[in-house]
Amino acid sequence: MIGRPTALVTGASSGIGAATARLLAAQGYDLILVARREDQLAAEAESLRQAGSRVEILAADLADHQGLRTVADRAQDGPVDLLVSNAGTSAYTPLADLTPDDVDHLWRLNATAHITLTRAVLPAMLHTGSGGIITVASLLAFSAGLDMGFPRTLYVAAKSAVVGFTRSLAGELRETGVSATVVCPGLVDTEWSGGANQGDPRAMPAPDVAQSLLTAHRQGEVLCVPGIEDRDVIRRWTDTEPTLLLQGNHAELAPRYRCPAP
Ligand SMILES: NC(=O)c1ccc[n+]([C@@H]2O[C@H](COP(=O)([O-])OP(=O)(O)OC[C@H]3O[C@@H](n4cnc5c(N)ncnc54)[C@H](OP(=O)(O)O)[C@@H]3O)[C@@H](O)[C@H]2O)c1
Repeated sequence: MIGRPTALVTGASSGIGAATARLLAAQGYDLILVARREDQLAAEAESLRQAGSRVEILAADLADHQGLRTVADRAQDGPVDLLVSNAGTSAYTPLADLTPDDVDHLWRLNATAHITLTRAVLPAMLHTGSGGIITVASLLAFSAGLDMGFPRTLYVAAKSAVVGFTRSLAGELRETGVSATVVCPGLVDTEWSGGANQGDPRAMPAPDVAQSLLTAHRQGEVLCVPGIEDRDVIRRWTDTEPTLLLQGNHAELAPRYRCPAP
């Protein structure tokens, strides 16, 4: 790479995205900042420029088809050495209470945008044999079977999709020089969900999450959980996958399904 690297960060107007942009500026990156609130982006951009970065802002709604297209086109134009696909919103509503349009928008923002933007930057990264994709999912991706006392089906589905997408992509990218990392924070102290986590003693500060995702990326970690020190916890979870695949992949129906119809 000649000159300064460029990172495109979505959800850069607050929280984890803004904290990541600040760290990247301190590490010598130029930045393309994406979110809807142009005034917030402009204020972030101004302080990052003072740190010496060239900063471009792109105000767009990633839940909207045209907004996502605009950002994908800009991402494809490049150069983008690092994509931090972080923007998201909570959808803690029972599925039946969401309108079809809500479902469409929430899915586009929380799931499709990660894939579309990755697809936009990948060809150039593969061409140069360098670059990185970081997606921000959530620890709730692993909560599908748990009773947590609040509805979150579409959010869990989207974040699980992001985990599956990024982990699978990381395998596809092996030996290419391009890496993929998915970050699954627990509670984070940000504007998230109307500031619901602010002041919660279990919530991690956004700069720590930003630090973890850039460190995980640098270390080549595929699945990063900022609050977990013992990597064996994550390994034990991923180790169940071959068991399920090998034991479930049979031509013969499992006997317990052979019971006669009532
Ligand atoms: N906070 C937590 O407890 C927590 C836990 C696990 C995972 N996460 C994940 O972390 C990521 C960042 O969240 P955060 O905690 O930093 O919350 P945040 O402070 O609310 O930041 C969310 C960011 O996403 C942007 N955004 C929201 N809707 C958008 C849209 N339709 N189009 C474009 N940008 C949009 C927001 O900017 P604008 O409003 O200006 O558009 C903002 O910059 C999310 O993906 C979230 O799922 C958060």
